[in-house]
Amino acid sequence: MSNNSHIFDAIGGFEAIIAAVDIFYDKVLADPLLADFFNKLDMEQQNKKMVSFMARAFGGPKEYQGKDLRQAHKKLVVEQGLSDVHFDAVAVHLQATLRQLEVADDLIQQVMDVVGSTRDEVLNR
Ligand code: HEM
Repeated sequence: MSNNSHIFDAIGGFEAIIAAVDIFYDKVLADPLLADFFNKLDMEQQNKKMVSFMARAFGGPKEYQGKDLRQAHKKLVVEQGLSDVHFDAVAVHLQATLRQLEVADDLIQQVMDVVGSTRDEVLNR
């Protein structure tokens, strides 16, 4: 996840990431396959963590101070069966969000590549 510095600016910086994460979590919480994973969370905090994580992942400011992705999702894998189907569903919602925001296709592809590169970490493999 190192050489993505152009994505942050190309996508429109923090403003665009905040807009995207808002829409993204609306979709995730409306999806019965995914909602249960999030129902005990403070979504405002979760939202902020995801914005700063995305900003860093896309080459923006490195202010993310959350857990690493393996640690953050370990319990979900062990206790709630988090797996590829959930990861795929989350990726689809993110892609749909970026389309809705009329982000250019090649940029969406780059974002999806970055997100896809986290799969084994998120799923603790
Ligand atoms: C697609 C790649 C993913 C990325 C980049 C990502 C990113 C993050 C980040 C940055 C956090 C905050 C970590 C912290 O607390 O410091 C987090 C937590 C969390 N993620 Fe993900 N995530 C991904 C996939 C998923 C999937 C597929 C699910 C479930 C369907 C999920 C459910 C959660 C939940 C429930 C938490 C909160 C865990 C807790 O506070 O105990 N994530 N994720």
